[in-house]
Amino acid sequence: MNILLLGSGGREHALAWKIAQSPRVEKLYIAPGNAGTRLVGENVDLKATDFPALKQFALQHDVHMVVVGPEDPLVHGIYDDFRDDPQTAHIAVIGPTRAGAQLEGSKEFAKGFMMRHHIPTARYKSVTADTLEEGIAFLETLPAPYVLKADGLCAGKGVLILPTLDEAKRELREMLGGMFGQASATVVIEEFLSGIECSVFVLTDGSHYQVLPVAKDYKRIGEGDTGLNTGGMGSVTPVPFADEAFMEKVRTRIIEPTIHGLQAEGILYKGFIFLGLINVGGNPMVIEYNVRMGDPETESVMLRLKSDLVELLEGVRDGNLDTKTLETDPRTAACVMLVSGGYPEAYEKGKVMTGFDRAAQTDSILFHAGTALKGEDTVTAGGRVLAVCSYGDTREEALQKSYRVAQMIEFEGRYFRRDIGFDL
Ligand code: AMP
Ligand code: GLY
Repeated sequence: MNILLLGSGGREHALAWKIAQSPRVEKLYIAPGNAGTRLVGENVDLKATDFPALKQFALQHDVHMVVVGPEDPLVHGIYDDFRDDPQTAHIAVIGPTRAGAQLEGSKEFAKGFMMRHHIPTARYKSVTADTLEEGIAFLETLPAPYVLKADGLCAGKGVLILPTLDEAKRELREMLGGMFGQASATVVIEEFLSGIECSVFVLTDGSHYQVLPVAKDYKRIGEGDTGLNTGGMGSVTPVPFADEAFMEKVRTRIIEPTIHGLQAEGILYKGFIFLGLINVGGNPMVIEYNVRMGDPETESVMLRLKSDLVELLEGVRDGNLDTKTLETDPRTAACVMLVSGGYPEAYEKGKVMTGFDRAAQTDSILFHAGTALKGEDTVTAGGRVLAVCSYGDTREEALQKSYRVAQMIEFEGRYFRRDIGFDL
């Protein structure tokens, strides 16, 4: 069959790499893709949110399935848009309906959903400018630090963690006053949870589910988890504390109530659910839902997925995911992200990248995130540039391999963290 994958980051290169390995795929198109995805499929110069153009392309190229990488098209209702158009209703979209995408698109919806279905999460209160005083009163009942979340999508920037009550009150006013525009017209105030985080990826057909390898990502720019937040500086899988006992709690307390809750609310959801979890004294609690795979977790998770991803996606489409097997590689996978100097603040693009020939002689796998072709050269085209991923029998081995190859790929201003996995 022909597949159209949407997105342009390292996550999408990793998904494309895995999808392209399937004997079930004839043509793989990626819109818009990057300099890496063109190595495993055909890039199409269309925006992932331009539904009319995507539909036209899908019809012209006999696309049978659309796999959605980022959240934006889902929150904007790509599933509903394809389904409700008689011309494209036969094309399977892997991802939730617009209603289901609210799990990521609205923090207030997600918290309310967890309350309704008794899914463990931090205590919270949702406020608007009209209920500011109630918000202040709620903050006063909480111990420091304070967590404030803009309700809507803010490209990963909408969460503030404030050390003092005064700062929390001030920032709450700023957020409600339009700090993130309409996205922070509603703010969720949360109790701070203390523990170590992990990312659990669930694939569901709406009633059955399969769990992908558990991963951990490293979001801060600096070693020891310091400095500004980024899109993600590296990832590892598996996560030692996510053992069988912990995962049994994740299944019974979180995954199953989530899927049953969606069904009970009449929300159709056929796609990935990304649970951002925190381990609080051995008990998993939900920090956030995302309605897509994580980046850079996908880059290491795809290395450990032995089964044919397309066969699993067919199970999602056909509602028989329970008849498919999800086999995982017992080895560790680790991914180190090379970023542009200055990122996540201002950085320069267009730096020529070298070392791909040497890297190709190793057994590490490179996934492009922000790259472009300029004549014969591959040049940097984003903050996060390249994910270097490796297998190892141990985490140390996988990381050492990735660091060695990370050194081979050179470009002006290159930076990467050398302590991925330090806290495991
Ligand atoms: P989110 O966008 O909801 O994932 O939040 C971004 C990051 O803020 C998370 O990955 C956590 O590290 C942190 N965070 C969010 N909510 C909480 C909380 N209730 N307690 C502690 N840390 C949190
Ligand atoms: N790695 C976290 C995310 O994709 O949101």
